[in-house]
Order: sequence, then C-alpha cells, then structure tokens
Amino acid sequence: MNKTKHIFCVALLFSVSQAISANSPQQTFPETLSKQGSPVEALEFHAEDMQYKQLEAQAKQRIKLFSTKLKSALVGAIQEDGFKHAVSVCKDQAPAIAQELSNDGWTISRTSMKVRNAENAANDWEQTMLEKFEQRYKAGELASNLHTSTLENESYKYMQAIPTGELCLACHGKSVDPSLLQHIQTNYPSDKATGFTLKDIRGAFVVTSPVLKNLD
Ligand code: HEC
Repeated sequence: MNKTKHIFCVALLFSVSQAISANSPQQTFPETLSKQGSPVEALEFHAEDMQYKQLEAQAKQRIKLFSTKLKSALVGAIQEDGFKHAVSVCKDQAPAIAQELSNDGWTISRTSMKVRNAENAANDWEQTMLEKFEQRYKAGELASNLHTSTLENESYKYMQAIPTGELCLACHGKSVDPSLLQHIQTNYPSDKATGFTLKDIRGAFVVTSPVLKNLD
C-alpha cells in the first residue's frame, strides 16, 4: 500500500472513530469497518487499530507520570510553606517536569482556554479540541472522560482534559485569597486562569509521539 493511500486509510479510520466517540466517551473501533472490503484491507485496519491503541496507551502513561510528578511537587510545596511558595515552585517545576518527560521524540505539555502562563497557550488544533471538550462537558459528560487524538505531520497527538479538583480552586477558583491572587498576578501579569469551579475543565494534557516511521 503506498503512503498516500495508507495515510488516507488512517485518516478515514480516525474520522470514523471520532464520529463514534462523539456519541460515546470511550473511543471504540467499529467491528463492521474491518469486515468491509477485501480481507487484506481488513487486516490493515486491524494493524492500524493495534498501533493506535499502543500509541494511546503510551500517551496515557506519560500523562500519568506527568500528573503524579506535578501533584507531588505542588502538594510538597504547599505543605512546606503554603500556597504562595507553591506558586513559585509551580513556576519553576511545571515547565521543568514537562521538559524532563519530553524525551525519545515524545513531547508532553499542558494547555487551556484560560492560561496562567502564556507559554502554555493552545495552538489551533488544541483550541478547537478544547472548545469541543467544553461543549461535551456542558452537554453533561465528565471532564475526566474527555480525550481525543489525531495524526498530524505523521506524528500521533493525544489530548486529555484536566478536571478542576478541590485543591486547584485555591489558585484557580472564583474566590482566590486576595494576597495570594496578588502574588500570582505579580508572577503572571496576564493570568487568565481563575474563575473555575469544581469539576470544570481546567485545561488539557497534550502528548505528541515521535514521527511514525512505518507509515509507508
Ligand atoms: C499554588 C497554586 C496552584 C494550585 C493549587 C494549582 N495550580 Fe495550576 N498553576 C499554577 C501556576 C503558578 C501555573 C503556571 C505554571 C507555569 O508557569 O507553567 C499553573 C498552571 C496550570 C496549568 C497549565 C495551563 C496554564 O494555565 O498555564 C494547568 C492545566 C493547571 N495549572 C491545572 C491545575 C490543576 C488541575 C490543579 C489542581 C490539581 C492546579 N492547577 C492547582 C498554580 C497552581
């Protein structure tokens, strides 16, 4: 199968899976799709399905590690010397941990529709996906169930919404302590990341894979 045809098949598979996932929080692949066409095509669809699942599993694993490391830095800093100190720790540690876990061709980052650090601003695809997450959240889905993925420039991209927990409200909520808020705004003069309520979509993790070499 040539590269263009292959990418087309992958794109087709993804658009079908996304259409399906729009109705269900779990991304599933249609059994019937692999039964259409010749047996060879069916096998190729199965191969893509497997590769896709492996990439998703790896992306999720990186997110789990990133999230655990961030939370332990945050909680450690709060326990050590309160929320203001934790803001400074977040400022140093969040980008450092993201960089540390962006290796072997993979990248991991966080973004949001309302960013604290402008470096985390969403690109076009991320912004569109955040808007779709927001629509699904407003329609009743849990932020913790929202995720999506795509193939872009021969690299796999996975995005997963981050729900706002109780702890997060101290620095991202509707009534941040005035002195803490001042400290945040001194560090982040164009901060937009307040006003969230419990379970809101605070933002999303974004993971990109290395270029997929076996796409031809
Ligand atoms: C002590 C205050 C504090 C708490 C508590 C806190 N954050 Fe943040 N958050 C920050 C700071 C500071 C940044 C900017 C980090 C940087 O410079 O990259 C940030 C950035 C973020 C970002 C990246 C997007 C952006 O706005 O730049 C996300 C997503 C995020 N926080 C989610 C959360 C979640 C979810 C929780 C609860 C588990 C939480 N935060 C708790 C201070 C806090």
